[in-house]
Amino acid sequence: MNDQKLRVGVVGLGFAGRTALEAFSELPDVEVVALAGLEKDVLTSLGEKHAIPHLYEKWEDLLETDGLEAVSIGTPTQLHAPIALKALEKGLHVLCEKPLARTVAEGTAMVEASKKAGKVLKVIFNHRERGDVAALKHQIDEGQLGRIYYAKAHWMRRNGIPGMGGWFTNRELSGGGPLIDLGVHILDLALHLLGEPSVSTVSANTFAELGPRGRGSNVPNANTLGSAFEVEDLATAYLRLEGGGALQLETSWATYRAPGDNFGIELFGTEGGAKIEVQNYTTVDTLRIFTDVGGVPAEVKPATGAGLGHRAVVQEFVKIVQSGDWAAHNGSEALLRTEVIDACYASAKAGREVVLNG
Ligand SMILES: NC(=O)c1ccc[n+]([C@@H]2O[C@H](COP(=O)([O-])OP(=O)(O)OC[C@H]3O[C@@H](n4cnc5c(N)ncnc54)[C@H](O)[C@@H]3O)[C@@H](O)[C@H]2O)c1
Repeated sequence: MNDQKLRVGVVGLGFAGRTALEAFSELPDVEVVALAGLEKDVLTSLGEKHAIPHLYEKWEDLLETDGLEAVSIGTPTQLHAPIALKALEKGLHVLCEKPLARTVAEGTAMVEASKKAGKVLKVIFNHRERGDVAALKHQIDEGQLGRIYYAKAHWMRRNGIPGMGGWFTNRELSGGGPLIDLGVHILDLALHLLGEPSVSTVSANTFAELGPRGRGSNVPNANTLGSAFEVEDLATAYLRLEGGGALQLETSWATYRAPGDNFGIELFGTEGGAKIEVQNYTTVDTLRIFTDVGGVPAEVKPATGAGLGHRAVVQEFVKIVQSGDWAAHNGSEALLRTEVIDACYASAKAGREVVLNG
């Protein structure tokens, strides 16, 4: 390992930026040398808390910081591509929040820039790093479920539209609603657990029923009637997978259902099944494995740890950068997710199945 600390800049002061900042700050072999974001008071207080020498309002200025080696992007999604492209052009490594980008065109440009620069482009899929997901992945890799032929993944909220009227609900700034925001997480979980099958076709529907009427905000009693809501508030998709398997996705920011913010996945295999159900981000008692014991149906409830989430992704990013082995880490796996999400939007718009890898 280098004895010199990795010099990192963090862009964004919201949940994503702060989470990355905390994770980088606790690593002894990293120095956060720069921080950027538009909220001046937050910038000053985080800068003081973490003794960060360079504070900027704009990301463009952060990239000019002397000696910067890597940048972490936690901004609204429309800025992922511009920041990553400029950073890679300057020879910096990039850690980027999900989704990679708003569109395949943007994502492709980012992956190409990473390849050209020979620098790391890694996307934050933190839910893979939950303890229950890691335990289930281990079971699958050990063959406990046999061949998984069907999977269902969901992320459903009763009242969870983020920042109604802000960037999340503006199509130009976000690229879409819960499908690109939450759907990309559960798509990642599913493809990761299933061993990265390619997606042959997608057939999707999107709906916008509550948001446009000012309903479903994640801020209780907010007066949101008339707030701009340009994206879907519910999406469902059916994916045919290489090898004959199928995956169903269901995601919503707001819909009439039981209260809560719940995500999970169900897997159906030839030798066993499994279910992860996470209610309101709990990490306790979430995993079930279904099997037969002596010919009798049985259910196992493994006691899993919480996992490190974002911290694990940040640690992995630093490890990759320090390894010097960068070529394999160019964002192409994240781009596959963006291709599927893009195809889902195209399918919903056209009202028919879209072929990805026929
Ligand atoms: N992995 C996860 O679990 C997770 C959770 C939340 C958000 N996200 C992703 O993280 C990203 C940010 O989400 P958020 O909820 O933190 O958003 P947010 O709106 O809370 O924060 C965005 C930040 O970007 C900053 N910003 C905007 N324009 C800028 C500019 N020109 N220069 C410098 N800074 C600028 C803002 O000042 C703000 O601090 C999104 O892509 C989102 O999808 C991921």
